[in-house]
Amino acid sequence: MSDRKKVTLPMLFKKVANKEPITWLTCYDYPTAYLQEEAGIDMILVGDSLGMTMLGYETTLPVTMEDMIRHSQAVRRGAPHVFLVGDMPYMSYQPSVETAIRNAGRFMAEAATDAIKLEGGAEMASRIEGIVKAGIPAIGHLGLTPQSVSALGGYRVQGRSAALAKKIIDDAKALENAGAFCILLEMVPDRLCKLITERAQDCIIMSLGSGPDAHGQLLIYHDMFGLYPRFKPRMAKMFGNAGEVILNGLKQYVAEVTNQTFPAPENWFGMPDEEYEELLNLLK
Ligand code: KIV
Repeated sequence: MSDRKKVTLPMLFKKVANKEPITWLTCYDYPTAYLQEEAGIDMILVGDSLGMTMLGYETTLPVTMEDMIRHSQAVRRGAPHVFLVGDMPYMSYQPSVETAIRNAGRFMAEAATDAIKLEGGAEMASRIEGIVKAGIPAIGHLGLTPQSVSALGGYRVQGRSAALAKKIIDDAKALENAGAFCILLEMVPDRLCKLITERAQDCIIMSLGSGPDAHGQLLIYHDMFGLYPRFKPRMAKMFGNAGEVILNGLKQYVAEVTNQTFPAPENWFGMPDEEYEELLNLLK
């Protein structure tokens, strides 16, 4: 296990003050959480993208609180020192402020997360405010918000026109004023991200496909390592092709079992000769 210090909110703000970029990745399981902790990642998001990357749904909409809690617990066990963020799934916060507070509280109580994230702009500011007043650190999410993919017309860049960019700037201010300590900007133009980062007063701005001028970067783990076969977004640099390595290993396993080169003696367990002789006697 790593001897890292637990990452806390003040440590994240200290990084911002020191102009050190914050590292953030999605993660949904224990072994990957262990590796991310060892690698020194600052923040982990247990995203509702797990509906697509882990459960094979077409969108994030079918994901439940139960799914999110179960995966967040596994990630926390693998990464005890990382700043862990639980992603509020579809309809776990939209219906009312009270629903939002109760479900945010479940992440904190049942999965030991450090904060929650939810999607939406000024219309969700009351949810952020309620959650923060309940003592739970909250992160906003603007730009491409996958829970609204139908309303947004698909997975595409948001805020390219001046009018839509102005709306995203206003939304960011509304979330900051409501108490969000951090805002994720997903797939907005780089110059819009820069403007929002420059205007943020007490709020950490993170970029996912929104350029370098934020306080840190987020990527979807499965995109980084070739583990999501359906599509590869442009913003997702591939840092290694684990998908190819695993596929080659699986093909080799099929071949070796088929041609009987696996298992080899070092892969099985024997018993002493005298015990085996006695066993044969017992069977007579
Ligand atoms: O669910 C998730 O992983 C997310 C990212 C797309 C930011 O919300």
